[in-house]
Amino acid sequence: MVSSANATTSPVASSSNAESPMQLTQGPQFQGRPSKRMHVMAKPIGAVCNIDCNYCYYLSKQDLLEYKKGCSPEMDGAMLEQYIKNYIQGQNTPEIIFSWQGGEPTMLGLNYFKKIVELQTKYQPPGVKISNDLQTNGTLLDDKWCEFLAKYNFLVGLSIDGPQMLHDAYRTNRAGRGTHKQVMQAVELLHKHKVSFATLTCVNNLTSKNPLEVYRFLRDEVRSPQMQFIPIVEQKTFRTDAPQTGQSSEQLRQGDKRLIPGNANSIMELGVCRMRLGVIFLSQSLTNGFRKTLVRCLSSILKPV
Ligand SMILES: C[S@@+](CC[C@H](N)C(=O)[O-])C[C@H]1O[C@@H](n2cnc3c(N)ncnc32)[C@H](O)[C@@H]1O
Ligand code: SF4
Repeated sequence: MVSSANATTSPVASSSNAESPMQLTQGPQFQGRPSKRMHVMAKPIGAVCNIDCNYCYYLSKQDLLEYKKGCSPEMDGAMLEQYIKNYIQGQNTPEIIFSWQGGEPTMLGLNYFKKIVELQTKYQPPGVKISNDLQTNGTLLDDKWCEFLAKYNFLVGLSIDGPQMLHDAYRTNRAGRGTHKQVMQAVELLHKHKVSFATLTCVNNLTSKNPLEVYRFLRDEVRSPQMQFIPIVEQKTFRTDAPQTGQSSEQLRQGDKRLIPGNANSIMELGVCRMRLGVIFLSQSLTNGFRKTLVRCLSSILKPV
């Protein structure tokens, strides 16, 4: 995936840092050494999910990951501890950000995430802030989850594709029923417990034709503190091939035109939508005038190519 709702909002995505990784960092924990910073999106439950969104690029990865041969999708306790320890010790920045995605990470249960926080505290160096973000379909969130997420200041990315008709068209459970009602319950719980969250909305053939309905719904019904949009894409061979099996000389680099959906020779297929769009952010702190301009721009660019 391009990036989770939260990963894109995290400061680690800053390109200036990527270009100058040798900046010396102030503070006792760095002992005059250059700053080492990275960002990994962990998928501790692999490609397992409790629902079955029609456009999901990730569910089919289960076949590549050999779960059927007895390989567990879950990051077990020992691996989790190793991951957290190495991730912390591999960085010496003032803030270290963990991103949890999937599949549906909340399927691991609340105790799993309590363990994560416990392990982070165990390895937390003095003076370093540790933050977490979690991307979820929201269907398993309840009061206990939200109390926890608020207490430990998780930034939650909630996937919602707009009003019920648009959302339920593709975001369905295994019985083929829409999940909108459950996601709206999650929205209320997130507000009730004052959890920091952002919405992540797929731009597909339906939402792209109803940009104002989507925008107004997210603004007025969801009261989304931060709206993020992602176009539906999928690499052509991903359902049958794993990216790591390719020769490194064949691996495409950022900026290569073949990575752009719709381009001649593109390796990306267009799924249910053909878009020009990257990820767009809208914040509630925008002034009304600027918001109106943005809506006008959105209306014009959220058109299928
Ligand atoms: C793969 S899901 C994993 C986390 C969680 N299950 C969820 O739905 O938020 C992460 C995000 O990827 C989006 N997504 C799924 N299939 C996609 C595709 N083919 N192209 C772009 N985004 C996609 C989902 O809508 C969701 O917002
Ligand atoms: S909830 Fe997330 S992981 Fe599950 S099917 Fe939908 S997009 Fe894929």
